Amino acid sequence: MSICSSTMGLSTTLFVMALLLSGAASMKSQAYFNKIGDLPCHFTNPENISLDELVVFWQNQDKLVLYELFRGKENLQSVDANYKDRTSLDQDNWTLRLHNIQIKDKRLYQCFIYHRKNLQGMNLIHQNDIDLSVLANFSQPEIMLISNRTENSYINVTCSSVQGYPEPAKMYFQLKTMNSTSEYDAVMEIIQDNITGLYNVSISSSLPVFPETNVSIFCVLQPEPTQTELFSQPYSIDAKPPQPLLPVPDNVLLTALPVLLLVVCAMVVFFITLKKRKKKPVPSHECEVIRVEGEESEQAKERVENRVPERSNEAQCILNISKTDSGDKSATHF
Ligand SMILES: *[C@@H]1O[C@H](CO)[C@@H](O)[C@H](O)[C@H]1NC(C)=O
Ligand SMILES: *[C@@H]1O[C@H](CO)[C@@H](O)[C@H](O)[C@H]1NC(C)=O
Ligand SMILES: *[C@@H]1O[C@H](CO)[C@@H](O)[C@H](O)[C@H]1NC(C)=O
Ligand SMILES: *[C@@H]1O[C@H](CO)[C@@H](O)[C@H](O)[C@H]1NC(C)=O
Ligand SMILES: *[C@@H]1O[C@H](CO)[C@@H](O)[C@H](O)[C@H]1NC(C)=O
Ligand SMILES: *[C@@H]1O[C@H](CO)[C@@H](O)[C@H](O)[C@H]1NC(C)=O
Ligand SMILES: *[C@@H]1O[C@H](CO)[C@@H](O)[C@H](O)[C@H]1NC(C)=O
Ligand SMILES: *[C@@H]1O[C@H](CO)[C@@H](O)[C@H](O)[C@H]1NC(C)=O
Ligand SMILES: *[C@@H]1O[C@H](CO)[C@@H](O)[C@H](O)[C@H]1NC(C)=O
Repeated sequence: MSICSSTMGLSTTLFVMALLLSGAASMKSQAYFNKIGDLPCHFTNPENISLDELVVFWQNQDKLVLYELFRGKENLQSVDANYKDRTSLDQDNWTLRLHNIQIKDKRLYQCFIYHRKNLQGMNLIHQNDIDLSVLANFSQPEIMLISNRTENSYINVTCSSVQGYPEPAKMYFQLKTMNSTSEYDAVMEIIQDNITGLYNVSISSSLPVFPETNVSIFCVLQPEPTQTELFSQPYSIDAKPPQPLLPVPDNVLLTALPVLLLVVCAMVVFFITLKKRKKKPVPSHECEVIRVEGEESEQAKERVENRVPERSNEAQCILNISKTDSGDKSATHF
């Protein structure tokens, strides 16, 4: 009879335990980066069990212990190094506070409360699962002008926002004129810091800005679908009369450049051949065709000479031709 009732008692305990364990829906908790996270156990102690008979601890999903209260005293020995000096227990509501929250603290935690009646055994009397999420507020988006308005009425801008978590949902530009508001989507560039895990995001766009209208540009960041949007300070561009086009100095340089190059080439060719003439008076083989041409008439020779700046090989030949034709005169000719 006594055996029977005690087995029944045990089976009820097991049943209740199974209920507790399976029905332990994880509750959500949210914390900000570098701030404090709450890991509540939600234990009410209905049987008014003395602290002396309780063993309470929190562990993460890898079963590393964050904190343990053994019969009313902190047991630091079981605590994992990652959580040393980072926790404090609020005993009034059995909430463990985790300090200096990092992105990697985003995970599942469990709290267990055991009743230690005697040396023989411990009964699990309470368990709570906590799903901790971590947030970091993105900075206010900032607009930067990349290229100013030119005659084509477009300006190039970028916008950035830093040190947030998790990845934002959307980022875009908004143009407001007196009568209209329009949105310009852009592809977000996302960089994750490999140490902190925080994100920096930016967008770039070419926006139409017409000289005859006042316009205010905003950059908008939507962190998560449920969160409120973050707006940049407005970037305002006032209407103004169209400006006359300025002459472009680049064009002058562009036309002058080939002429300059021609002159330089001609001079270089001249000096090279002057040197070569002293060393090697016999014209080279490659030049023979041209020399034949050159020997035909003075006119042909001059035609060839006009091509001097284009090909140095020919130029060399021409000078050699001049030499064969008229000897030392060619030297004075240059
Ligand atoms: C526990 O109590 C503290 C103050 O004593 C409070 O700040 C905290 O929000 C409470 N936590 C829960 C989960 O009720
Ligand atoms: C719990 O026990 C303490 C003494 O151990 C007592 O003062 C208190 O009234 C009890 N509370 C309840 C709800 O039984
Ligand atoms: C983050 O932003 C939210 C909403 O604007 C605000 O309530 C919260 O206090 C901010 N948190 C921090 C740590 O700045
Ligand atoms: C852009 O051009 C306007 C005049 O057209 C000038 O007032 C403004 O300072 C320029 N902005 C920058 C960033 O160059
Ligand atoms: C402005 O952006 C457009 C489109 O992205 C690009 O084609 C253009 O070269 C940019 N202009 C300047 C001055 O950066
Ligand atoms: C804006 O609206 C006003 C009056 O509604 C109108 O006179 C003006 O021409 C409009 N401006 C533009 C740029 O459409
Ligand atoms: C993100 O931006 C912050 C502030 O501008 C900067 O210090 C940090 O280096 C950036 N991180 C990355 C990964 O670029
Ligand atoms: C972070 O990334 C940079 C380059 O992007 C790399 O040089 C550095 O070693 C990385 N640090 C860690 C801790 O992975
Ligand atoms: C633009 O705004 C200025 C004031 O900032 C105002 O004086 C001007 O009339 C406005 N021009 C137009 C076209 O709305």
